[in-house]
Amino acid sequence: MSNNQLDKKSQAWSALFSEPMSELVKRYTASVFFDKRLWRADIQGSLAHADMLCAQGLISADDLAAIQKGMAQITQEIESGAFEWKLDLEDVHLNIEARLTQLVGDAGKRLHTGRSRNDQVATDVRLWLRGEIDEIGVLLTELQKALVDVAEQNADVILPGFTHLQVAQPVAFGHHLLAYVEMFARDAERMTDLRRRVNRLPLGSAALAGTSYPLDRERVARTLGFEAVCQNSLDGVSDRDFAIEFTAAASLLMVHISRLSEELILWMSQSFGFIDLADRFCTGSSIMPQKKNPDVPELARGKTGRVVGHLMGLITLMKGQPLAYNKDNQEDKEPLFDTVDTLKDTLRIFAEMAAGITVKPEAMERAAKKGYATATDLADYLVKKGLPFRDAHEVVAHAVKDAIAAGVDLSELPLDKLKAYNPAIEQDVYEVLSLRGSLNARNILGGTAPEQVRAQVARHRQRLGDGKTQP
Ligand code: ARG
Repeated sequence: MSNNQLDKKSQAWSALFSEPMSELVKRYTASVFFDKRLWRADIQGSLAHADMLCAQGLISADDLAAIQKGMAQITQEIESGAFEWKLDLEDVHLNIEARLTQLVGDAGKRLHTGRSRNDQVATDVRLWLRGEIDEIGVLLTELQKALVDVAEQNADVILPGFTHLQVAQPVAFGHHLLAYVEMFARDAERMTDLRRRVNRLPLGSAALAGTSYPLDRERVARTLGFEAVCQNSLDGVSDRDFAIEFTAAASLLMVHISRLSEELILWMSQSFGFIDLADRFCTGSSIMPQKKNPDVPELARGKTGRVVGHLMGLITLMKGQPLAYNKDNQEDKEPLFDTVDTLKDTLRIFAEMAAGITVKPEAMERAAKKGYATATDLADYLVKKGLPFRDAHEVVAHAVKDAIAAGVDLSELPLDKLKAYNPAIEQDVYEVLSLRGSLNARNILGGTAPEQVRAQVARHRQRLGDGKTQP
């Protein structure tokens, strides 16, 4: 290779080629305008590789020092915006390597010893993704903390619990919010689990078969903080299952976000009127002056489709690829980047939005009263008086039917009327028929009684490392 080989991509690739790449093909195959985002991981990986090459006696200490100096300058150039990214140099790897050679000469040309862009890019993406997973973990904790706070403030607030979107039984609003905390806790768990599989080192796989140089892969893994070394070179350079797995976990997370979004939107509608979102998260209408729209949850619901789309894109990208590396894999980056960006923005905005929810307890309670939400409690009451549950269920169905016809709640039926359904019914039934009585009765692990909600709040605080458990 001639001295400025890499810089001369506008000419032919190598002596093997008799003509330069067409402009159209150059644009089609280039990735630099999106993969330059990996520059920091690329330099980090190169420095670890160079350090190992030197330790193994494959390059001199002077070469290593020159590479380190050159990379420091490149870092500074990229950070300051002075670095000139060239389409001709195809991707982030060739751009940085060419600049290094320009700066430090032969030492730069020795960096690629025992390495291929195939194991280089796989290493870069894993390094980069690992850092993003850690940031997502922090954001997930913040969101959970915000929801736990609102849950605690609303441990006693009565919300109609729905099944089939029909009023079912009263639940504490705090209990409802903690259901989402459980979902996000599992999402965080999934991220932690898959991080282990992201955090493995492909470098040393070279193009596909490994390399004849005596590289110390364990040393590079240690330097870069990888937990393990990929044990098969063909697999190391080619599989993107780690990216797919991440995007699958991201999709599930977004599905949880979209369920919460749907509820926020419903709750804020005039028909429900259960909550209000702070003005800074809403928009108005250009034509209808009365409107305040919950755009943020609507968009989050929409962006869920986008992330699930990326999962479909990535998994389809992998399907049917023969071993080992294929250029198809260059297409892994944009969906991955966009998934990370969408996730991080959404988590940030939801943590803030949750903290700014205005709860309207009267409206929630009014809605709960409308739906005979304590009918099950009456059946349970009769069971405790000795009736078989199926008979009790039937008795209460009659009572509800009559109450609907009379336009009253069960708790509004006088005792003699109630006694007509079953003589075992006594004055104490009114406590059972009250929404609060129903709520308090579900004082079982995982149940909605405010006492349980508060116990769960404390457990989550402990788990999330929230100082609020301390007196
Ligand atoms: N830009 C490429 C990618 O993202 C780097 C690897 C290219 N390797 C190759 N043999 N063309 O996958």
